[in-house]
Amino acid sequence: MKVILDCDPGHDDAVAIILAASGISPLEIVGITTVAGNVQVEKNTLNALKVCDVIGLDHVPVVQGATRPLVKEAEIAEEIHGETGLDGPQLPNEPSRQAIDQHAVDFIIEKLLQADEPITLVPTGPLTNIALALVKEPKIKQNIQEIVLMGGGTFGNWTPAAEFNIYVDAEAAKIVFESGIPVRMFGLDVTHQVLATTETVDALRKMGNPVSGFVSDLLTFFIQAYQDHFDFPGGPIHDACTIIHLIDPDIFTFEHVHVAIETNGEHTYGMTVVDRLGVTGQEPNTYFATTLDHEKFWSVFKEAMVSYGER
Ligand code: BDR
Ligand code: CA
Repeated sequence: MKVILDCDPGHDDAVAIILAASGISPLEIVGITTVAGNVQVEKNTLNALKVCDVIGLDHVPVVQGATRPLVKEAEIAEEIHGETGLDGPQLPNEPSRQAIDQHAVDFIIEKLLQADEPITLVPTGPLTNIALALVKEPKIKQNIQEIVLMGGGTFGNWTPAAEFNIYVDAEAAKIVFESGIPVRMFGLDVTHQVLATTETVDALRKMGNPVSGFVSDLLTFFIQAYQDHFDFPGGPIHDACTIIHLIDPDIFTFEHVHVAIETNGEHTYGMTVVDRLGVTGQEPNTYFATTLDHEKFWSVFKEAMVSYGER
């Protein structure tokens, strides 16, 4: 299955990239596109390139995208991801290569128009690039298999009502959710069930391969940030859920529901309004992830990390 990873790495975005490129992944990564989100897009791009270096992913183009949301000013999440966006692990000072000389929106359009089979888009940051691509070239819709995204939820982590990725660019999210393309949504309701803990970190360290060691460093920082900021007993590896699902579609359960994006509310800007009881009578537009098989999730996660020691 061909995928484009549209991201803002970001600790959990980095874990998602690492899972997608692992030895057990059936995914062919067409490109990694970056967007302003956790930190400024330039930093997110550098992080994506450096993560590629750590895992030896040198053949996949990294492409920089939108520098800010469609309407609002940018907001960043330095308190969770640190000043670089990927604080914690030792990273190369400079990446071994640069992003390709194209805008991510044009890259996404070009790859979709040229595609000989539908491509799945996997956004794990604000939806700015995806919305811009849909607006610039609506013909791409027919070649999008599905949009498998991390964002939203029936509660928030940036405001009481809104999750970070959707809040940062709710106007973009509205375009995506109203596009008619099937959306599969991993929101906080499910991602908060997937907590990496100090046991996860220890198990990764014991695997003894450089990539599992790197992920263990990433998660150490991330767990501490969630402890400090939200008093959580672990770090929800939000973005990783999208890739674990694409590797094994039997792990998560979904409800097919209508999701509307709030772009006006005084207290609810950026909320994903999930109609779980069908009270609006609107046609479902989203597969909304609700639960997961924890044992299977962690077993796939572990296998993916072990595969880096077998290369
Ligand atoms: C989302 O926000 C970012 O901080 C994470 O990378 C994730 O995509 C969680 O709300
Ligand atoms: Ca992210």
